Amino acid sequence: MNVLWIFAHPEPRSLSGALRDEGLRALRELGHDTRQSDLYAMRWNPVVDGGDFRHDGGRRLIVGATSQRAYSEGTLSDDIRTEQEKLVWADALIVQYPLWWFGMPAILKGWFDRVFVKGFAYGVKGPDGRTLRYGDGGLAGKRAMAVLTVGAPEAGMGPRGAHGDIGDLLFPLQHGIFWYSGMSAVPPHVIYGADRLSDDAYEDHAAALRKRLASLPTEEPIPFRRETGGDYDESLVLRPDILPGRSGLAVHCA
Ligand SMILES: Cc1cc2nc3c(=O)[nH]c(=O)nc-3n(C[C@H](O)[C@H](O)[C@H](O)COP(=O)(O)O)c2cc1C
Repeated sequence: MNVLWIFAHPEPRSLSGALRDEGLRALRELGHDTRQSDLYAMRWNPVVDGGDFRHDGGRRLIVGATSQRAYSEGTLSDDIRTEQEKLVWADALIVQYPLWWFGMPAILKGWFDRVFVKGFAYGVKGPDGRTLRYGDGGLAGKRAMAVLTVGAPEAGMGPRGAHGDIGDLLFPLQHGIFWYSGMSAVPPHVIYGADRLSDDAYEDHAAALRKRLASLPTEEPIPFRRETGGDYDESLVLRPDILPGRSGLAVHCA
């Protein structure tokens, strides 16, 4: 497989950096081709600005003002096009970051904001004119896996944990980005208690990551519901007969 590794940590000598090196080495030993986007090392610009989308002059209200039209017009900047070419090349995407304030570092969010533009990752229409989303889309057929280090211990990130259920915290990435754009989300690889690891524990974590990467091509993805699978009504609300009385993010898994 062609595997693209997105790395969002400012310090290459960190635990995250060591695991990135370990992971890329393991993938190559498994016979995969790898490429990397090391966002801090690349000095990635995470800010969508006027250069990323264009509007005619005039004072009328602009609907969808930041929906970048430059993709269809072929005027995207080189840094964005380079990342899109890597994504087209990739069969699988690894997105690695430390959990910061319940989410991803801003540089990584800004990579998605600028690279996953309309017409490329979303807003792609099928033959019937319908917009392809949630299981279909510009990146359909690819797999994606989040690899993250977190400070909290595992129990505190369970269903009743104060640090937030890890599945809920990852919903924006796994459902809102991966699945929305068509990619299958392979269950995440999470290193808990990452601020208190001993050297021995590092070896265990490195081995666990290698094992996960070995099953990257075959592991069963998270069973998010397809938009077109019949589970939702016209407004994309889950049908009342499915999981009656239940709500929350978990209902979107079959
Ligand atoms: C700005 C910042 C915010 C953080 N927010 C969280 C958080 O919301 N939840 C959590 O469990 N850990 C949080 N942490 C801890 C980091 O996830 C942890 O330090 C990191 O994953 C350890 O890996 P590293 O040594 O490779 O950086 C935060 C750390 C920083 C610096």
